[in-house]
Formats: sequence, C-alpha cells, structure tokens
Amino acid sequence: MKYYIGADLGTSALKLLLVDSCGKIVKTATRSYPVQYPQPTWSEQNPEDWWRAFLSGVKELTNEIDTSQIKGIGVGGQMHGLVALDKDDNVIRPAILWNDGRTDKETAYLNEVIGKEKLSQLTANIAFAGFTAPKILWLKNNEPENFTKISKIMLPKDYINYKLTGAYCTDYSDASGMLLLDVKNKCWSKEMLGICNINDSQMPALFESFETIGTLIPDVATEMGFDANTKVVAGAGDNAAAAIGTGTVTDGKCNISLGTSGTVFVSSDKFSVDKNNALHSFCHASGEYHLMACILSAASCNRWFCDDILGTDDYKTEESTITDNELGRNDVFFLPYLMGERSPINDTDARGTFIGMRMDTKRKDMLLAVLEGVAFAIRDNCEIAKEQGINITCSSLCGGGAKSELWQKILCNVLNVDITLLQTEQGPGYGAAMLAMVGCGEFANVKECANTFVKIKKTISPDADISLRYEKQYEKFKEIYPTLKNLFKIIK
Ligand code: XUL
Repeated sequence: MKYYIGADLGTSALKLLLVDSCGKIVKTATRSYPVQYPQPTWSEQNPEDWWRAFLSGVKELTNEIDTSQIKGIGVGGQMHGLVALDKDDNVIRPAILWNDGRTDKETAYLNEVIGKEKLSQLTANIAFAGFTAPKILWLKNNEPENFTKISKIMLPKDYINYKLTGAYCTDYSDASGMLLLDVKNKCWSKEMLGICNINDSQMPALFESFETIGTLIPDVATEMGFDANTKVVAGAGDNAAAAIGTGTVTDGKCNISLGTSGTVFVSSDKFSVDKNNALHSFCHASGEYHLMACILSAASCNRWFCDDILGTDDYKTEESTITDNELGRNDVFFLPYLMGERSPINDTDARGTFIGMRMDTKRKDMLLAVLEGVAFAIRDNCEIAKEQGINITCSSLCGGGAKSELWQKILCNVLNVDITLLQTEQGPGYGAAMLAMVGCGEFANVKECANTFVKIKKTISPDADISLRYEKQYEKFKEIYPTLKNLFKIIK
C-alpha cells in the first residue's frame, strides 16, 4: 500500500494525517505550540516550533508502517503570516500571524495613499491588517535592522517545505493572501513589490498547489526515516486545502470553516473580483479561483470563553444544558471581535463584547451568545456574498467548531442553509494529502481526486421556527457593531 502525508499547520496545532492511496485516513498525530501575544492585538509564533512539531509528529504518525511506501507529502497552513529569513537561512524574528492587528498605519497607507482601486487592479484585493504586504511595511518602519536583513520572505507552510526540500517556493493560493500577487495573471506584481521596498529575489518561486517542488533533503529523510525520493508538493493556504478536503471544487460550491478563524469559501471556475473588495479574490488549490471572507475569531471564541473564562475544557457538558427551545431566544448577544475583525468590517479596533445581560442571565446564556455571535458574524459575510450575486443555499462545514452538534444547528438556522457534514472532518490536512496524491500521479487532477474521496456523511437542514427566530435575532445583532464602532476607537 502507498501512503501520503497531509499536514495542516494551524494556529493552535499542527495536525498530521497518514492517508493511504484509497483515501483512507490510517493514522493522525497532533502537536500543539504556543501563540505569543507580546502586545495588544499582536500575534506571533516561532517558525522553529512548527518545524520541531513537524519532525516529532511525523515520527509518531509513521512509526507503525513501512516508511519506504510514503510517496508524497502535502502541507496546508495558516495563511498571510510573515516568515523572514536572513542570508544564512536563520529566522530573523518570530512570524507575524494572520490575525495580528499591528499594521493599522501601513494598512491605511496602502488603502488610502496607494489607493484601494490601484491595489485591486494590481492584486485583485485591498489591504487588510493581517495580509503580508502591510507586515513587510511595518517591519521596514518599525524594525529597520530586521528589514535590511531579509533575504527570503515566505508563508508559514513554505517554511516547512523549505526545511523538507530546500526549495524556496510557495503556491498560488497562499501567495494570493500576501497582497503581492497579481492573482489574475498568477505572477508577482512588480509594482506591489516596489511599493513594499522588496524585490523579486526575496520572493519564493510560484507553483500550483499540486505541483511537486522537490524531494527530501537526504539528512532530513534520514532523520525522518523516509526514502529521500519522497516527493513534496507546493501545498496550499489552509482554506484552499480545506476546500479540496471538503470537495469544494466546482463553481459556486461553498465551504464554511469554524477553526481558530471562521471562513466562507466559494469556489469559482473563473477569476472575479468583488466590486467592493469585501471578499478576498484568491487562487484556488485546484488551479482555479475562489472568493473568501474571513472572521478572525471563530472556534477561538468558544475556546477563550470555556477554557479561559469558565475554566473548563468540557465543551460538550457545557453545551448539553442548552435546548432547541432556547435557540433564537437569547437576550444576550456577543460580538466575536476578540482579535479585531477582518471581514466584512476591516476594523482592528473592534473588540469582543457581551451585551444584554440581566440579573437572571446564566452561564449557558453567555455560552450560547458566543456560539450565536460567531454564526451571526459568518452570516454578515454571507450577506456580502449575496450582494455579489452569490446565493449560498448549501455549504459543507469543517474545522474544530464543526464537531459541536449544537453549533452545527445554530449555524444552519442562522444562515438558513443546508449544512453537509463529511465522512472525513479533517478538511485542510485531507486536502493537503490529496494534493500530494495528485503530485505523485495518483489522479489526473485535483477535482478528480476530491470527487473520488469526499463523501457526505449527513446533511442538516434548517428548522422553520428556529430559523425564523434567528432572522429576528440577526436584525438586532446587525445594530450592535455600528452603534459601538466609535466607542471601540475611544476605549482602545
Ligand atoms: C484566511 C485567514 C485564516 C488563516 C487561519 O484569510 O487569515 O483563515 O488562514 O489559519
């Protein structure tokens, strides 16, 4: 039997899957690592932690099989993070992550001085604080010594691929989130590189996600106990990888992810740009395109509320106190902007907020408000998609939050769409393994592979009463942020 490894380099952990050539997940291994928040709204990780996690996780993953049968590795990872290496390949500073909000000034400079229209012409997107280009400018403005040391710029998963193969490259789906790629023409925008004071030689070579970038460096192969001919594909941004893993590969198909971030991902055969640039216009790992919206805190809101505030990691027991009858009847609301927010409000000053508590408010009302608040924030983005003529009537669901039956039901009714749950809930890692299979010639293309392996386990449909109640609740939710927007600027 031939094997493939799919990795998801997430924000809270690295998740590794060992998949056989029939698409069966044979084994999984997980390694977590910390996120540092050195200043309010900052968020950083040490790329060496990712690499250590990879090496140790892979050993556990493969210790019961004949490793000479591992044919390919695909890595999907958290997008937008700035990883910078010096001329000796040392990491210059901790990676600045996708949910970091330090680049206010640089984002405003790009959107207002360079101008949204120009950015959109060059890259199909406008600047958001978490994107890579504003981070490069931030480094130049705030850490000039580090900036001058930059020899290589890469994204988080590219660092793993570089350590594995020595190939300095990235893929189009992940590169799209840098605000440096001409997404339509799939090449670096020379003008954007100039705006960020960097040049071509500091940028990785570009590949399709399923293309092979190389084989293992012999020392690394020996350390992992693998054949040095094991192929590594370019991999993808985690959302594009999740889209492959959930079969979101045909025009108009949607996947929603409830991971640390929450995303709405709509696959598209053709390149297109949202006229207001509220949705990101990115390349897909299938070789095509997609539109996407991203909320910065999704399952992380639940984790924060349960682990840090309530002091429990038993989410199931907490949720078991909430009945269907209570859905859509909560007087407590929650804005999930714990890291500021990207889509659609693009506001780094926005903050998490509970509103509507009374003396009789209970713990479970606040928990429900958290789960509902995330669903409403996802709905905000579905409304933006609707304005673009994209009417989502059905979506697959993946990510850690997708495991909660209560959250599935809330989302299904808040969005009033059918939600499909898949047999394999490991979206990004499974997608990354499929990319490796395509790169190794098991399938002619990504669509064929996804259509062969992805199977629906269950579809849940909205309940007429609950969704009607949520329609009314959403109208109230929509009023909260605009009312508080200025206050967030004052209290920051
Ligand atoms: C997408 C985004 C997040 C990260 C999380 O634009 O920023 O979904 O990729 O891993």
